Amino acid sequence: MKGFVTDSIIGKRESNGGAARLLWPLLGACLWAAAVAFKPVIIVHGLFDSSGDFKNLQRFINESHPGTNVTVIDLFDRGSSLQPMWKQVEGFKAAIYPIMQNSAEGVHFICYSQGGLICRGILSTLPNHNVHSFISLSSPQNSFQNGSALLLSVYFKRPFERDPHHRDMYTNSSDYLALLNSDRPNPNSTEWKKNFLRLNKLVLVGGPDDGVITPWQSSQFGFFDDNETVVEMQRQGVYLKDIFGLKTLAARGDLILCSVPYVQHVWWHSNETVFHTCMEKWLV
Ligand SMILES: *[C@@H]1O[C@H](CO)[C@@H](O)[C@H](O)[C@H]1NC(C)=O
Ligand SMILES: *[C@@H]1O[C@H](CO)[C@@H](O)[C@H](O)[C@H]1NC(C)=O
Ligand SMILES: *[C@@H]1O[C@H](CO)[C@@H](O)[C@H](O)[C@H]1NC(C)=O
Ligand SMILES: *[C@@H]1O[C@H](CO)[C@@H](O)[C@H](O)[C@H]1NC(C)=O
Ligand SMILES: *[C@@H]1O[C@H](CO)[C@@H](O)[C@H](O)[C@H]1NC(C)=O
Ligand SMILES: *[C@@H]1O[C@H](CO)[C@@H](O)[C@H](O)[C@H]1NC(C)=O
Ligand SMILES: *[C@@H]1O[C@H](CO)[C@@H](O)[C@H](O)[C@H]1NC(C)=O
Repeated sequence: MKGFVTDSIIGKRESNGGAARLLWPLLGACLWAAAVAFKPVIIVHGLFDSSGDFKNLQRFINESHPGTNVTVIDLFDRGSSLQPMWKQVEGFKAAIYPIMQNSAEGVHFICYSQGGLICRGILSTLPNHNVHSFISLSSPQNSFQNGSALLLSVYFKRPFERDPHHRDMYTNSSDYLALLNSDRPNPNSTEWKKNFLRLNKLVLVGGPDDGVITPWQSSQFGFFDDNETVVEMQRQGVYLKDIFGLKTLAARGDLILCSVPYVQHVWWHSNETVFHTCMEKWLV
């Protein structure tokens, strides 16, 4: 599986390639004219990070999309990032909502690691959000890792594993991902799906050399089956039953998987190749 970079739009054939090519010069001209009006970008950090860790990413955005207003939300830094997920969702939401309201044309999210789960919580529970692209940067979307478990894996450089034989325990104990995935009854799931589907693009970034997210395909909604074989997103119940909109996004051509090799977990936000391959084009 090594040595590849994919950037695939799930569920959509390349049938309109010709038209797209014709449109590129025109689009380019529009982009140039609109250079001062790129949508604001909001960055949500991961476990133990703080806003200072995103200097490189801010520089990449400034170089490729000059004038973009980039905000790295400076909340739940470092040790505070271990606080309960719903509490963090509410905190980040309160900080992010005014930025959305200030931007009639909408905003983009780049959410790293645990931040990708927090952003999912926000997108599911905020009825009038205006997020265009949600870039999920190596987030354990299908394997909840509570703070202490992820802490151990980061410190001891060992992947955290959600024991696939004890799915029950996960379902009962995680009030977060289980609720977002409707693995536990959620009276608001229809509402949450509607909210989530206000998104224009969902971009799932990950890769085989991550080292922390296990299996790495969890960054793209894959997970182990009972035999610890990785089952890809398109064969997961959460996708097949379209629980919160993955399948709908795919049918719309708005679900993008971007896989890049040779990137360890702590480098996703600072790797320029990752930026150019997986993020740049979705920030217009
Ligand atoms: C963005 O780039 C411009 C031009 O190189 C530079 O003057 C400015 O300080 C940069 N802004 C940020 C936030 O990096
Ligand atoms: C960037 O966005 C923030 C949050 O909406 C706002 O307070 C700030 O004034 C903006 N900066 C510029 C230069 O537009
Ligand atoms: C977090 O996960 C660890 C290891 O799986 C477990 O022992 C601990 O009880 C969990 N803590 C919470 C608050 O769920
Ligand atoms: C999970 O909850 C269900 C229903 O409340 C219960 O029957 C089951 O024993 C629980 N499983 C574990 C591992 O706690
Ligand atoms: C569902 O929505 C209602 C009304 O907004 C809220 O009070 C309740 O806490 C929500 N339930 C869950 C499980 O989030
Ligand atoms: C797991 O392996 C066993 C024995 O080879 C097989 O019977 C079973 O169908 C497998 N389960 C899955 C989900 O592939
Ligand atoms: C960045 O990604 C590229 C592409 O896979 C890789 O070759 C390079 O080693 C990476 N650099 C770092 C510091 O992660």
